[in-house]
Amino acid sequence: MLEPTITTASAPARAERSEAAASRLHLVISGHVDHGKSTLVGRLLADTGSLPDGKLEQVRALCERTSKPFEYAFLLDALKDERAQGITIDAARVFFKTATRHYIIIDAPGHIEFLKNMITGAARAEAALLVIDAHEGIQENSRRHATMLSMLGIRQLAVVVNKMDLAGFRRETFDGIVAEFGAFLTQLGVSAETWIPVSARCGANIARRAAEMPWYTGPTVLEALERFRPEPPAQDRPFRLPVQDVYKFTNFADDRRIVAGTVDSGRASVGDELVFYPSGKRARIQSVEAFSRDERPDVTAGEAVGITLTPQIYTSRGELAARSDEPPPEVTTRVRANVFWLGRAPLALRKDYVFKLGAARVPMRVEAIHRVIDAADLGDTGARTGVERHQVAECTFKLHRAVAFDVSADLAATGRFVIVDDYDIRGGGIVAEALPDRDEALRSKVLLRNAKWISSHVSPERRAERYSQRPTLLVVTGEAETDRKELARQLEVKLFEEGRFVYFLGMGSVLYGVDADIERGGEQRREHLRRLAEIANILLDAGVILIVSAAELTQSDLDVLKTSLPAELVCTVWVGDRVTTDISCDYVLTDAERERRGADALKTVLEDQRVIFKPW
Ligand code: GTP
Ligand code: MG
Repeated sequence: MLEPTITTASAPARAERSEAAASRLHLVISGHVDHGKSTLVGRLLADTGSLPDGKLEQVRALCERTSKPFEYAFLLDALKDERAQGITIDAARVFFKTATRHYIIIDAPGHIEFLKNMITGAARAEAALLVIDAHEGIQENSRRHATMLSMLGIRQLAVVVNKMDLAGFRRETFDGIVAEFGAFLTQLGVSAETWIPVSARCGANIARRAAEMPWYTGPTVLEALERFRPEPPAQDRPFRLPVQDVYKFTNFADDRRIVAGTVDSGRASVGDELVFYPSGKRARIQSVEAFSRDERPDVTAGEAVGITLTPQIYTSRGELAARSDEPPPEVTTRVRANVFWLGRAPLALRKDYVFKLGAARVPMRVEAIHRVIDAADLGDTGARTGVERHQVAECTFKLHRAVAFDVSADLAATGRFVIVDDYDIRGGGIVAEALPDRDEALRSKVLLRNAKWISSHVSPERRAERYSQRPTLLVVTGEAETDRKELARQLEVKLFEEGRFVYFLGMGSVLYGVDADIERGGEQRREHLRRLAEIANILLDAGVILIVSAAELTQSDLDVLKTSLPAELVCTVWVGDRVTTDISCDYVLTDAERERRGADALKTVLEDQRVIFKPW
């Protein structure tokens, strides 16, 4: 079962890890189309002697045979998948080294890819080169890329003014671009460390000082690279392991559960206590089962690992593990974010999107748009209702359930997100601030309860196996007049007769018992729901399918349930054609469907959710 993960760790990624000790710098190369990014990278490889022997001649000869003018950019294509002399190229990355350090250059083909790579963390960059064509001058993407770099928090920047040969190597052309673009960068709050006039094609000021531009006395591109400072190594930051998957072995009485993921930052060893957020569950690392190496007692940033825990708590994809002796991540349902929008349709209020951060995927809505700037000219567009393509906005997002993350300025990897609509990435950005939400106080109660929870020696897998079902809270809601309660009770009978471990809990049963000491309704509504959720939590832990019926639940009610319980175990159905509250339910059961199929319709929901399996 672990096999696929081994093969997805690409060769460069592995090479990168094995060289973890050497000084490394991740560099992104950006700029408008055709301004010479690939040529510059090709030149760097050629002029630093990083190319495999004979490669340059081979590509030149091929060009001659096919009567194509030689391009340094061709070197990049020719090198794809080649792994000679320590240089490796994959889809968007070029690896090369100088005497002092290793470089990983991210040469993104287009700016969608650039943004995707940057914000999904497929490529994290500590510094950037921005290429501007001296002849064509500053273009839209020159500005956009600079805006994105600043939004992504990349503060080390060198601007390379390329194709100086086309500008007659004139100083005035260079100075003009420096003045104009410098003013733009100042507006962004970014300052470029260096401005370098070059001709990538001629090799001027790339690795050798250009005789053609005696007026320039600053560093060459190569010297500028060597001046960039690498970020403090990720392994020295707080430990963060996003849970990608939990593998369970239920065969041959082996009920180990392996929590798998790639460590974003920090380090942890066998015996360290981890806290999983948002649930707050705690356990110690019992063993480390690494995929591509011998068993070792610790894990560090950049490694794809599997760990086993003691006790074997239930955690799931999307949780973020941190060490209990280090600063915790933020946990909330509201964030202030800087977002760069790429979707054809504008980012809109009152529309559902999917927020993806690390391994977490959560439905979200835009609560407010505070500022929209055009990425090309950086003017405030004044818009507050939507974000158009290629605009950057400062927004507040409301997530449907809590997510654990870090503010980007503290920890970059766990502070980046993308927004998905219709299965495609439409935008992305960084979390600028964690905002309080209504459920903060409740969340701390739940964190404490989970921290103190006494786990059973019987694992959830064993229970699921015994009962042939996944524990679930099925919430059946709808208008007061509908017969949803009767429907829920019929479902209980149906499942019970099939041999399921199922229980229907009426609100009245809680109201006059567990809730006997508090007033009904009004102020106490959230407390009623919290207590209901605590009962549900125990029953879910016991492996039950719990059916609850309640009239006209609102989103705030549902938030209480989802904050108190593992959100993925809660399933909601609205009975009736018209949803009359602000709740966002998983299913809506129409009147026609209810009349036709009755409780069977609810059973289908459980099958859909794989709570129970079809062939019994
Ligand atoms: P995209 O990847 O398509 O965005 O382009 P790019 O920025 O990678 O540009 P690329 O390196 O492919 O260069 C585009 C064109 O500009 C090619 O025809 C290069 O030969 C030419 N070019 C690049 N650098 C120079 C230069 O210094 N002088 C001159 N005259 N042409 C150059
Ligand atoms: Mg290119």
